[in-house]
Amino acid sequence: MEIVERISELRKIVAGEKKKGARIALVPTMGYLHRGHLTLVKQAKQDGNYVVMSIFVNPLQFGPNEDFARYPRDLERDAKLAEEAGVDLIFHPSVEEMYPQQNRTTVQVSELGDALCGLSRPTHFRGVTTVVSKLFHIVQPDRAYFGQKDFQQYLIIRQMVRDLNFPLEVIPVPIVREEDGLALSSRNVFLAPEQRQEAVVLSKSLIEAEKLIKQGERRVDRIEAYIRNKITQESSGEIDYVEVRSAENLVKPEVINESVVIALAVKFGTTRLIDNCIVEV
Ligand code: PAJ
Repeated sequence: MEIVERISELRKIVAGEKKKGARIALVPTMGYLHRGHLTLVKQAKQDGNYVVMSIFVNPLQFGPNEDFARYPRDLERDAKLAEEAGVDLIFHPSVEEMYPQQNRTTVQVSELGDALCGLSRPTHFRGVTTVVSKLFHIVQPDRAYFGQKDFQQYLIIRQMVRDLNFPLEVIPVPIVREEDGLALSSRNVFLAPEQRQEAVVLSKSLIEAEKLIKQGERRVDRIEAYIRNKITQESSGEIDYVEVRSAENLVKPEVINESVVIALAVKFGTTRLIDNCIVEV
């Protein structure tokens, strides 16, 4: 496995692989890898691709009061895990390599990014779509893999790829969880032991809400209230949002008569966690 920091070098290697007939898979990450990231790699590998993983903590997607500076980083550890999982090439550019001069061009997908995480993080998805378009242009993959843990991000990138005719397939990968249900996240390391225990309430409340829908509950407000109450009663978490939305376009349904995503964001101290569950009806 190689690690490259330069765009020019990356392009050369990928062009060589393409010439040999390889299909290129891209797994974009911000590093501090866990089983969630590695599942994307395994999926890519199973699909028979030459797997490029990008590791880049993208300043453009962090707000001024967010955790860009303290976002966990450990390239050495990441490289080991990536290689074991089957990554062929790590692309680890510096901020200067990705944004050498003042960046005046951004990519923005309208509407899909306004709700849910977009409300408390108004510039976040613009930062994500901008860096992901740059990565798509740099790597020119045939397929790119995204986790459903960030379901809104996945929908936005799928839309961007359709709207801007990127010649690649976006592949969604299901959420990977700890044994007790907590969705894996690089930010989980920030949770104090007590917060870590309490955070189980997120996945538990989603499972129970899913059950309520399966049993016939169709009222959006009932589902949202149920989850809110459970989180408030069983943890010190501060709710950012709990929302039932269409799993196709994130529009809020009047009643639940289509597949929905139940999405939530909750802060434990300064650590903001997200989770979601897709319910097919
Ligand atoms: P990051 O948070 O590092 O996540 C990289 C990829 O791993 C994303 O597609 C994310 O959805 C997926 N992922 C994270 N935790 C997961 C879990 N528990 N189960 C399944 N997949 C999981 O998302 C980003 O980075 C950035 O916004 C990025 C797309 C790299 C752009 O900077």
